[in-house]
Amino acid sequence: MSAPSGTFPVIDAANWPYPRHIAHRGAGKLAPENTLAAFRHGASFGYRMFEFDVKLSADGKLVLMHDATLDRTTSGKGRVDALTLGELAALDAGGWHSPAYAGEPVPTLAAIARYTRANGFHVNIEIKPVPGTEWRTGAAVAIDALSLWQGADVPPLLSSFSEEALDAARQVAPGLPRALLLDKLPADWPERLRRLGCVALDANHRELDAAVIARAHAEGFQVLCYTVNDESRAAELLSWGLDGLITDAVDRIEPAG
Ligand code: G3P
Ligand code: CA
Repeated sequence: MSAPSGTFPVIDAANWPYPRHIAHRGAGKLAPENTLAAFRHGASFGYRMFEFDVKLSADGKLVLMHDATLDRTTSGKGRVDALTLGELAALDAGGWHSPAYAGEPVPTLAAIARYTRANGFHVNIEIKPVPGTEWRTGAAVAIDALSLWQGADVPPLLSSFSEEALDAARQVAPGLPRALLLDKLPADWPERLRRLGCVALDANHRELDAAVIARAHAEGFQVLCYTVNDESRAAELLSWGLDGLITDAVDRIEPAG
């Protein structure tokens, strides 16, 4: 597999272009997650960076979807990677949330790139492979991100709980910044990040305190965390120097800047 050419500035602690406040799955729970409508809703509260989940369809196209199956957030059933993009396009990804969003389509990564780039928004693409597709999904996201964000001043930040997916992304597009998602912090987390060439730790916020954030910074890593919906906890984490706070509470946690 070969990646399109494209160069981005090196993203590191000295050159960190991303906002500190990041809307989770578009607008958290206020609109149907991982839809363009959710991004628009998050943007209406002043959010300028968006986290979302990406998977492969049966015919190798990248779409936004959190779960491995379609049942919870669409009118479809079964595994996401059992349907082609054409079949996914026929589904309703908004009606499960509320009647106002009925008919909302499953977005492609390409559609999200068009929307966010046109509006000057930043993105955190979570590579969320259907089990068994880790390498293919990681490589596909990285290749498509390179071409979809070609010429952009700031690249997408890639993240994943899957080390295999991050490894694949690194091999095909080493210039794209990566963050390792960790629900629990293992003792060797700095070594894991270094092995994958990650620029950031992206942890469950319950794993973080001032000392962990200071250690990550001392090791040369930025620190993001998910999913913080309490205003006082958000303020505490940011006071410790947190670099990126992923939240559903786009209506209650005001983005800085
Ligand atoms: O990317 C951080 C966060 O979204 C990870 O958890 O389950 O919401 O994808 P989840
Ligand atoms: Ca996610």
